[in-house]
Amino acid sequence: MVKFARRIFVKKVGWGAFGFSFFAHQPLIARMRKALFSANEDERVFFTTGFKISEVTESTAMVWTRLCRQEHPNPITHEREDKVFRHPVDFDDDQPISQMDGGVEPGPGFVRVKLYSDTGKIVSPWVQVYQRDDFTARIPLEGLQSGVTYRVELIAKATVDGPTTVEKATFTTPTPPQEAVPVLLTTSTCQYFWSFDEPERGFRTYDSMRRLEPDFFIQTGDYVYYDKPGPLAKDLGRARHKWRAMDAWPAIRDLYRQVPIYMLKDDHDLLKDDVHPASTPYGNLSYQEGLKLWYENVPIIGKPYRTFRRGKDLQIWLVEGREYRSPNDAPDGPGKTIWGKEQIAWFKQTVEESDATFKLLFTATPVVGPDRENKKDNHANKVYETEGNWLRQYLSSIDHLYVVNGDRHWQYVSKDEHTGLLEFGSGPISDYHAQGWDPDDKRPEHRFLRVKGGFLSIQVDRVEGKPFIRFTHRDVGGNPTHEEQFTA
Ligand SMILES: [Fe+2]
Repeated sequence: MVKFARRIFVKKVGWGAFGFSFFAHQPLIARMRKALFSANEDERVFFTTGFKISEVTESTAMVWTRLCRQEHPNPITHEREDKVFRHPVDFDDDQPISQMDGGVEPGPGFVRVKLYSDTGKIVSPWVQVYQRDDFTARIPLEGLQSGVTYRVELIAKATVDGPTTVEKATFTTPTPPQEAVPVLLTTSTCQYFWSFDEPERGFRTYDSMRRLEPDFFIQTGDYVYYDKPGPLAKDLGRARHKWRAMDAWPAIRDLYRQVPIYMLKDDHDLLKDDVHPASTPYGNLSYQEGLKLWYENVPIIGKPYRTFRRGKDLQIWLVEGREYRSPNDAPDGPGKTIWGKEQIAWFKQTVEESDATFKLLFTATPVVGPDRENKKDNHANKVYETEGNWLRQYLSSIDHLYVVNGDRHWQYVSKDEHTGLLEFGSGPISDYHAQGWDPDDKRPEHRFLRVKGGFLSIQVDRVEGKPFIRFTHRDVGGNPTHEEQFTA
């Protein structure tokens, strides 16, 4: 991109026409360059909405970021209601987006990534960011080495010759699947901007996860809520505002400086409650726009369902629950699906090929439940009973496979009464977001129930050569609230 911009300069100025040495007249040249295409050279761009490192393999990784014109997000000026979710009071959805609480103005520029390790350096080309993508960039990294910790520099500038802004991070590539290595991951779900529980930093859960120093973090969907107030994201502009405001919380930015994130989508960060591909628009925001926005904000290339290995003892599947599903209100029966044929075939093939000791299926929505009787959106509901029954049966036939899910606003561990399949619901990011289940309604399938926020950490390791997996539910402060451990 830099080369391209410089070519434009050469063409406009016409080096040859001056008839003097370039090197003898550098100050003049510099002034002309400045006048020509760096009219606002004082303008800088910032990583105000952070960056995300994801999809880390032994040799590749993805970096996502957005360039921003303002160094800090807009201050929060609204009071909040004193009840669940903490909706803002008197929020004017029609005010300019640039003035909204938590808002960040993005802007054009160039970004590159430099990786440093003990054995060398990898430098990406400059990538230009455009308004059509809300000034975001997705930069694939290749040629990495297995089991190496990389120091990352993201470098941004508004113009070709403008001043640079640098952001730093670290990440470590996985070791080969034949090696038994300890793994620690964290997972959480359901984060609404206004449910923050730390006014300066955003969500305590993010700081608590960072203190555990996990190898990676899996966010199981509802990263933002288009259909919750402050504003209701009924068009592209307001929807983009929500992603920017969320990613600008310091607690979130700080986690991603040292922990890669893997993302799943769910209904509220795609369009609206219980969305499927045949859903009507949300205000002026269409399903297709919602889909475009999700990929705009997530460091991923290719299929939204994927699997990855971490050492001899762990393989993870991240499944897609929105893009391939039947309309929720279609009659239940064979052929009614959430996963879709292609994904089911992929899942069966990859899970049957796997020789990992423990297998974790991450799904945005529950497979076991229990869920409320009136819900019509997931495998634990009557409307998807046929595929749900098949899936629970199939998953329970695979040794040491566990389901981990988002979507539900309470923490739980449940065991399917018919198949014995175990499911771990992480609970929402914040206590202010906890609702939807009566804390006293502990059903026979519940091994644990807590209608509060926080996260789930999962550890895989060996003691005297014996692999174990440990699931620890935690409150927003990181304190354990429940633990389950299984040995292979
Ligand atoms: Fe949710």
